[in-house]
Amino acid sequence: MPEEAPRRDWREDRYGFLRWLVLPREGWREWWDRIYVDPDLKRRLLSYASFCLRHRSRFSQVGLPVHGIALLYGPPGTGKSSLARGLAQIVAEDLSQSGFSAQTIFAEVDPHALPSQMLGESQRNTIDLLEKSLPELAEKGHPVVVVIDEINSLAMSRSLAAGGRDPVDVLRATEAVLRGVDYLASVAPNMLVIATSNFTRTIDEAMMDRLDLAVEIGLPGPDGIALILRDTLDELPEVSIGDEDVTELAAAMTGRSGRDVRKVILQALVTRDNNDFPRPLTPKDVWRIVEQERRVEQ
Ligand SMILES: Nc1ncnc2c1ncn2[C@@H]1O[C@H](COP(=O)(O)OP(=O)(O)OP(=O)(O)O)[C@@H](O)[C@H]1O
Ligand SMILES: [Mg+2]
Repeated sequence: MPEEAPRRDWREDRYGFLRWLVLPREGWREWWDRIYVDPDLKRRLLSYASFCLRHRSRFSQVGLPVHGIALLYGPPGTGKSSLARGLAQIVAEDLSQSGFSAQTIFAEVDPHALPSQMLGESQRNTIDLLEKSLPELAEKGHPVVVVIDEINSLAMSRSLAAGGRDPVDVLRATEAVLRGVDYLASVAPNMLVIATSNFTRTIDEAMMDRLDLAVEIGLPGPDGIALILRDTLDELPEVSIGDEDVTELAAAMTGRSGRDVRKVILQALVTRDNNDFPRPLTPKDVWRIVEQERRVEQ
């Protein structure tokens, strides 16, 4: 997968809530091209993002209530955060090629800035994020894509709130977040927020209602796993694993996420007896890991 952008390329906002950089940038297409999901899903995401960043500001909030928030949800390691980055890159490329805007800003909210106990002090942070920090980032009018991982912690379901938390606090906190989201939608029509979550049950109903789009990113099927395996193997200088082996391995790996599939290859590479690089990776090396993990699961 692509390199993280070097530290110096990221800038921080003055509140310490998020880091941002300018897109498009070299290498970032991989966050899109090398994440294998249903092509139709990618088309939907792209068309929504492009609509939001190009046209949303023309519409009245009453006439066409677009909030500029989409949710990607699904099991861990299925490519949600990667796709969010990739989507930002592809849209940035489109916008710059069409002369719409030479630069798109991409930002990621620091997960530590918004702890899961979103009450008291951290509630204040969340409101500041939505009402100060993000509006400031959008102020210059560039298209902005922001990723907020684990949105659950931000807008906890009021009907499910329990577990030792004072329900009145949760109520207040979540209502304040909803107000913040509405405020952001009204002052930053050039901003697209991509939220991610592992599960939707604990997201507040009123928050779910505000999403323009919720897309499930599920575990890959055998064909998807085969594509991910092939892509991972392409990263290596030399392999002796044919298409048939890949198909059989993929079938045996059903139920794993894209992240886990790539990790199997990594394990096969680093745990074999003779770890000398150019010896090509063989099907046997990979089967050893698959079988090992099967035994552990049983
Ligand atoms: N569908 C996929 N196709 C190819 N690679 C994938 C896929 N899903 C995950 N990966 C690999 O796993 C890495 C981690 O994925 P990512 O962090 O985007 O998952 P996530 O869904 O955001 O996980 P989490 O819910 O744990 O935050 C990716 O950078 C990629 O290498
Ligand atoms: Mg993620």
